[in-house]
Amino acid sequence: MKIFLDTAHLDHIREAVSWGIISGVTTNPSLIKKEVESLRASPGEMDMESYIKNILAAVGRMCPVSLEVAALDADGMVEQGMLLYEKYNQFAGNVVIKIPVCTINSKGEGGFYEGILAINRLDEERIPVNATLIFSPEQALLAAKAGADYVSPFAGRVDDRIRRVAGIPFEKSDYFPQEGIPDGSNPSSVLRDNGLVSGIDLVEQILDIFMQYKIESEVIAASIRNTIQVREMARAGVHIVTLPFNVLTAMITHPGTAEGIDGFTADLVPEYLDALKKGPEAPGVRDHV
Ligand code: E4P
Repeated sequence: MKIFLDTAHLDHIREAVSWGIISGVTTNPSLIKKEVESLRASPGEMDMESYIKNILAAVGRMCPVSLEVAALDADGMVEQGMLLYEKYNQFAGNVVIKIPVCTINSKGEGGFYEGILAINRLDEERIPVNATLIFSPEQALLAAKAGADYVSPFAGRVDDRIRRVAGIPFEKSDYFPQEGIPDGSNPSSVLRDNGLVSGIDLVEQILDIFMQYKIESEVIAASIRNTIQVREMARAGVHIVTLPFNVLTAMITHPGTAEGIDGFTADLVPEYLDALKKGPEAPGVRDHV
């Protein structure tokens, strides 16, 4: 399973890349907005083009960086996707164009198959595509058929939707059981969003379908909220998880590890510390005999 970073925060990207475990980055307009707003607050000119180039260079060759289009019609998405690719792929050869699978908004405006059309046309141009805002296995199947290299199911947002509709209060990072939450009005059943009991259920169903038909698009588990969700995604066999920086840092700590560090540090004896110091040339093996 590859780990991508889900952020546009340049310092976080640089730091996580330096740890040697990051295989790519995903951005979206909301993540970009967050960074732009904090950069606006600091002195100096904000140069978005250089900022994007710095992200691409920091992530490096062979590690895809998803950049999302702004248009909602196929022609506009293709035009912007091609422009983003031509303008930025030359720096590290790692640009992937993020296209919403469907651009119908909650008022019903937009086009049903604009996203699919755009994916198809960018695929014909051999431009790699990450199909985003996937909330159902059917959407993932259609995106893959259109030629998306990656499909991004928004697992955490499925969990959010289930809790929101049921009126269950929650914090963003709260764990949501992969087997679902019992339905208060019908205890023998669990709450569902479009038949799905959780975000991990969405990812597992997409993986089942892709395996059944030997579909080669890679599944990026997106909208990840906590470390247990990462564990469940890994156990489900997802190809990639894209993680916010705070989830990535939370993954490495454990109270047991911290207690162990306390104990081992307290038990360090001077003789052992001396043996760790640089000293005269180490004696040959024969000197010990
Ligand atoms: C994925 O590519 C998206 O950028 C992201 O995972 C969305 O996550 P959110 O639901 O936390 O906004």
